Amino acid sequence: MSRKILVTSALPYANGSIHIGHMLEHIQTDIWARFQKLRGHQCISVCADDTHGTPIMLKAQSEGITPEQLISKTREEHLKDFQDFHVDYDNYHSTHSEENKTLSELIYSRLDKKGHIAKRTISQLFDPEKKMFLPDRFVKGECPECGSEDQYGDNCDNCSATYSPTELKNPKSAVSGATPVLRDSEHYFFKLPDFEKMLKQWTRNDHVQEQIANKLDEWFDAGLEQWDISRDAPYFGFEIPGAPNKYFYVWVDAPIGYMASFKNLCDKTEGLEFDEYWNSNSDAEVHHFIGKDIVYFHTLFWPAMLEGADFRKPTKVHAHGFLTVNGTKMSKSKGTFVKARTFLNHLNPEFLRYYFLAKLTGRVDDFDLSFSDFIARVNSDLVNKYINIASRCANFISKKFDGHLASGLEDHPLIKEFQQSADTIANYYENKEFGRAVRDIMGLADKANRYIDSEEPWVKIKSEATAAQVHEISSVAINLFRILTIYLKPALPKIAEQVEAFLNVEPLTWQDTQSVLQGHAINRFKPMIKRVEQKQIDDMIEESKQENEAANQPQLAEPLKEEIQFADFDKIDLRIAKIVSAEHVEGADKLLKLKLDLGGVVKQVFAGIKSAYNPEELEGKLTVMVANLAPRKMRFGMSEGMVLAAGPGGKDLWILNPDEGAEPGMRVK
Ligand code: MSP
Ligand code: ZN
Repeated sequence: MSRKILVTSALPYANGSIHIGHMLEHIQTDIWARFQKLRGHQCISVCADDTHGTPIMLKAQSEGITPEQLISKTREEHLKDFQDFHVDYDNYHSTHSEENKTLSELIYSRLDKKGHIAKRTISQLFDPEKKMFLPDRFVKGECPECGSEDQYGDNCDNCSATYSPTELKNPKSAVSGATPVLRDSEHYFFKLPDFEKMLKQWTRNDHVQEQIANKLDEWFDAGLEQWDISRDAPYFGFEIPGAPNKYFYVWVDAPIGYMASFKNLCDKTEGLEFDEYWNSNSDAEVHHFIGKDIVYFHTLFWPAMLEGADFRKPTKVHAHGFLTVNGTKMSKSKGTFVKARTFLNHLNPEFLRYYFLAKLTGRVDDFDLSFSDFIARVNSDLVNKYINIASRCANFISKKFDGHLASGLEDHPLIKEFQQSADTIANYYENKEFGRAVRDIMGLADKANRYIDSEEPWVKIKSEATAAQVHEISSVAINLFRILTIYLKPALPKIAEQVEAFLNVEPLTWQDTQSVLQGHAINRFKPMIKRVEQKQIDDMIEESKQENEAANQPQLAEPLKEEIQFADFDKIDLRIAKIVSAEHVEGADKLLKLKLDLGGVVKQVFAGIKSAYNPEELEGKLTVMVANLAPRKMRFGMSEGMVLAAGPGGKDLWILNPDEGAEPGMRVK
């Protein structure tokens, strides 16, 4: 029976690059979703960037751009990274979208109407200079337990103590360096305890993995608390309806972003109905793939919000562990914190997909990417075992048998055996036991190779008496290869495409494992993948290290503009000019009217420097002007150039003075 399945990955924050840790999740999701599609189910996978919150607001400020500019630039990058890893979302949206705003407001208002929202005043650390409340991570100070310096406001890196930011000694704002003060503000709370009974039942009904259910029991024992869902302005997010200057905390609208991305897809897809998937009585499945760090949000807050707002709850939340590299946490200085893009610069993305496939389980344990193991597995499994089956036999078919496969293969015992594995392997995929699927698939690949070894087609082809047998042997091998390709297709979609081109067939589906390809013309075999070399890994690590060093270089407060060529600069004619007169302009509160002598030729310029200079102090000074700027007609007369000044504005503006000896009219170059 065909199922309706919606699949999501956690929405990556829009303030950083995608790295191979994220890729573990997106590849796991993509393999599972592709498997479902291959099986003929209606499976839709969606994701989006998570765009709201203080860190994104501050990062945009530090880059001198708007948050909207930052998130649109990052979304493009993220999407490209996923596409290049062949992670095939049906929709990749943004939480800063109309759909998300509408749905967030709807869910909130339903919760409010049913009495699940509480309000009360709380006291929080406030940065008096930046005039903003500080999230825990933006307060630093000495640990109240061990006294170690420079610790974040939520926990200590040194002694692992957890505390509230108000307990830090000598707290400082990480934004401005100012000493924070306590300030009161009214906050909105989601009454999570209202849902305790439902949650206890839901989490014990196979909606989460066993390891997670155990963790949840600990949380239930500790007691559920109301959840603070509002933040004060300035904040980048959605304003809470009826609460001016209060915003939804980013984690409120983030999971709603799953629905919003799906809604956005429905709006552009004929026949895809939002309600069919999200109504409280929906018979569709919703599966969330997430990391173990965000389980609380997805297994407590999220189902409770959905229940309270009359939507359906997830079918299953699938949590995975964290990616470690060579046995330890990814490290920027060691170069093992590898960005998706950096990986792509050196290695075939399907190799990472295969490695993840080969080692993933349905459990929540951490996942180690060991580069020596990676090289060994990819080369031995993919190159030496799998692809080798085709490359050993394809030439016989194309050279000796006119490119046609033999017929009468349907009862071949080895083909039968390969076909009979389909259900077991499908079950492994369904349960995310990808590693077990690979163990079986590679076991079959070994059998295929042993079959070729024992039949020795390269010997048989040489004698008249046995040459005809080679047709069957190679055709059987090609069929085994075809079935293995289908078993690997959820993880290796591009290799599968190449195989389909080689076999001269339509895109293969899971059902095709049960048929035999015979009497059919195939194409010449072309090499599909190259072995991985240690040098590629070394180069990738080196590039990661260099990226890290570059990021640690001192940064300009105002980043440089886009690089230009000398010819661009050379278009600007800068001249030494003498300010012969300066006067106020009737009706202009920012401008001074300057007469600038370029050595005989006098130009008139209106300059926005009135806040910083009195006309008298300017007269007689030398400065630098842009002399070939197109004249501009202003309300007060023509302005025939520009004088240059530095500084943020107001009183803090400084015009340039040339060194002594420079004369009016001289070119600055
Ligand atoms: N924006 C939130 C998720 C909102 S979902 C409604 C977030 N973003 S994140 O960018 O920090 O992480 C996105 C996902 O990547 C999370 O599921 C997280 O667990 C996962 N991973 C981040 N680093 C990871 C590893 N090193 N290893 C495996 N997964 C990792 O959390
Ligand atoms: Zn400490």
